[in-house]
Amino acid sequence: MRTILTGIRPTGHLHLGHYFGAGQNWLKLQGNYDFYLEIADIQALTDNFDNPAKVRQSVRDLAVDLLAMGIDPKKVHIFIQSRIPEIAELTVIYSNLVTMARLYRNPTVKNEIAQKKALFGHDGESVTYGFVGYPVSQAADITAFAGELIPVGDDQLPLIEQCREIVRKFNNIYGKTLLEPEPLLSPTPRIKGLDGSEKMGKSLGNGIFLCDDEATVKKKIMGALTDPDKIKKDDPANPEICMVYYYHKLIANENLKTVCTECKKGLRGCVDCKKELIVKMMEFLKPIQEKQKYYNEHPEEVDQILLAGTENALKKAKETMKKVRHSIQIDYFEEND
Ligand code: TRP
Repeated sequence: MRTILTGIRPTGHLHLGHYFGAGQNWLKLQGNYDFYLEIADIQALTDNFDNPAKVRQSVRDLAVDLLAMGIDPKKVHIFIQSRIPEIAELTVIYSNLVTMARLYRNPTVKNEIAQKKALFGHDGESVTYGFVGYPVSQAADITAFAGELIPVGDDQLPLIEQCREIVRKFNNIYGKTLLEPEPLLSPTPRIKGLDGSEKMGKSLGNGIFLCDDEATVKKKIMGALTDPDKIKKDDPANPEICMVYYYHKLIANENLKTVCTECKKGLRGCVDCKKELIVKMMEFLKPIQEKQKYYNEHPEEVDQILLAGTENALKKAKETMKKVRHSIQIDYFEEND
């Protein structure tokens, strides 16, 4: 079986963007690979080092959401990054193999720095070492488990490329030790927000969370963007630019064809169309929310799953670490390592 590794930052609850952008793909992959799914708490701290309580709570919330979404702990090792010290060890070792210039040129890092500047008005001075270096830590995430295929969205491609460079450099200098990973692009990496923006984002307030109750879903869908040229209830409209139609499609409403033709012919008002979507959305969320409720009421079961997943992950990381120590000649007391 080939090895898959992917990671997700615990910074809040999961929304439909996560579910359709990544989760659905993971559900298809589970069972067919040796699958490591990392809850990247150390990476979350690069942005949230001043708010550890948020990261801690999010680890639990994320684990519950992943299980509720259908990730099967018998098929996937769900584990917590900070419990694998080998990742930190590899990060330090790899940090010699990356120049500062290369890190600053990483398009993902560059973008994120630009966003931070726009958001907080900081200059480059307040960008931390940990933040600029997180691609190195992510290379450690991947290689610690000898990840071959890395399911990600296209925003993560520069990070995979950086990891591949580190692997090549390591192997050139110290002898072939590490595996070069390949990205496995999600077929639907970006899910649009209710406001019509290109990406549903946790902090953008334009998404539906897997844990949203009916009143919240109602409020959000009622405010969703529709064809701005449709003024009256019986005006014909263009479903292709309407977020309500987009979400009917996303959750695979079985009446999709009717929704589309009625919209085009002006036979369906936006309010009715939104009401139908609210009902369908709640039907879609119901089984997920039932499982969320179950796991929230059984936190000890969630703990057991995380512990078992982390134990498996640790075994694999230790094997890698042993090889790495040997290659860079720091395996001083081999029998004890
Ligand atoms: N950087 C990824 C994100 O923000 C999360 C992540 C952490 C990851 N470690 C990883 C993704 C390893 C793939 C492989 O979404």
